[in-house]
Amino acid sequence: MLVKVERLRVAFRSEGRLSVPVRGISFDVPRNSRVAIVGESGCGKSLTSLALGGFVERAEISGKISGSPRIAYIFQNPMQSLNPVMRVEAQIGECLPERCGRKERIANFLKDVGLRPETARKYPCQLSGGQQQRVMIAMALAQEPELLVADEPTTALDVTNQREVLDLIARVADERGMSVLFITHNLGLVARYSRFVNVMYAGEIVESGTVDAVLRSPRHPYTQGLLAAVPRLDLPKDSPLADIPGTVPPPWDWPKGCAFHPRCPKARPACSAPDFAGCPEM
Ligand SMILES: Nc1ncnc2c1ncn2[C@@H]1O[C@H](COP(=O)(O)OP(=O)(O)OP(=O)(O)O)[C@@H](O)[C@H]1O
Ligand code: SF4
Ligand SMILES: [Mg+2]
Repeated sequence: MLVKVERLRVAFRSEGRLSVPVRGISFDVPRNSRVAIVGESGCGKSLTSLALGGFVERAEISGKISGSPRIAYIFQNPMQSLNPVMRVEAQIGECLPERCGRKERIANFLKDVGLRPETARKYPCQLSGGQQQRVMIAMALAQEPELLVADEPTTALDVTNQREVLDLIARVADERGMSVLFITHNLGLVARYSRFVNVMYAGEIVESGTVDAVLRSPRHPYTQGLLAAVPRLDLPKDSPLADIPGTVPPPWDWPKGCAFHPRCPKARPACSAPDFAGCPEM
């Protein structure tokens, strides 16, 4: 196993208020494998991935993370992550541990991510969103990570670029034997790019397993709701698009009992009772 996360809890205390965005979650990232964390905005996906790298500050963190792989991150908006006043070659160069052979190595990384050699001399503002994201991937590869965390890496891109960038991440990860932790809202992407999936809601993992098993027969009503909300081309054009009513509540106000109960079509009185003992659908 590359990383084993057990009962990870991330809490913040500010102005006397306790907020617990990640509530004791456990999951594994096997070696040479692609794992997804999927869930709506605010359910704790990014905090979880940042906690893996030790990047969460001023938080109360408990639980156990076994394994300490080299981790590189690719984030949603490359323009916010790239330095606007540095050329591409300098930014990739900063990620390389040794100075020797730097120029050739930078050229090779650019080639690996499908960028032309002259991209090295460009500034981020001279590149398209897709090219910027490829530069981010080249920077990540330069760190020779064992685990690549791709946190919504394509939501800022159009559909064609989205597909190309995700295919690229999958290809370079497989070629190098890297594991990938994909973080996304999109179950369609999970189906295509991951082997394992963890469905997260209100700071908890509500369902997990192989993508085949979870997407073929989802058991938790939240997973069922997410799947039903994926647009389908095989249905008549005028079929209504399913949604999950409401939104994820804030982490200082998670509902008691099952946090999903205010939005769950299968909720029953026991789901919000103080002695709630787990989802009866599972
Ligand atoms: N440093 C912090 N201090 C306090 N609360 C935080 C901090 N970072 C995140 N949070 C809160 O934790 C919750 C989960 O945040 P997180 O960024 O993990 O969500 P997410 O699932 O990645 O959402 P999105 O899909 O929108 O990126 C949010 O309500 C957020 O406001
Ligand atoms: S515990 Fe109850 S409310 Fe929560 S998901 Fe299961 S059925 Fe729905
Ligand atoms: Mg996030």
